[in-house]
Amino acid sequence: MNKPIRWTAIAMVAFFPLLPALAQSPGAVTYKAKCAMCHAADGSGTTPAGKATKTPSFSAPEVLKMSNAELVAATKNGKGKMPAYSGKLTGAQITEVVAYIHTLQKK
Ligand code: HEC
Repeated sequence: MNKPIRWTAIAMVAFFPLLPALAQSPGAVTYKAKCAMCHAADGSGTTPAGKATKTPSFSAPEVLKMSNAELVAATKNGKGKMPAYSGKLTGAQITEVVAYIHTLQKK
């Protein structure tokens, strides 16, 4: 094996696990990193931390009734046992992550 081929092979193995993350929307990446431990990957709130904090499903009737602005405000200011994310996420990141939450809602 000559050198360039070997480095290409090493680079492919090293970056391969990152490819699925790169293919996701920025909102999905933020959600999985910061929100899914309570809200669950599918938005159902059924993780152990979600159950402990009584995290409702994003598809619960009372959450489906909330406007986009209310969801953004809950993310910025926190709500009940949920921490506030203003200062931790930019306004753009909050907009993206709430857009991703809408894709998890079953209406
Ligand atoms: C520590 C657990 C926890 C984490 C982490 C968390 N949440 Fe929450 N979230 C909650 C709980 C609990 C509620 C319900 C609060 C209430 O109604 O008292 C909630 C409510 C919400 C709501 C309002 C809708 C509703 O169900 O009442 C939105 C929107 C939301 N979370 C978005 C997010 C986003 C976006 C993130 C990540 C940036 C996040 N949450 C991270 C626990 C969490």
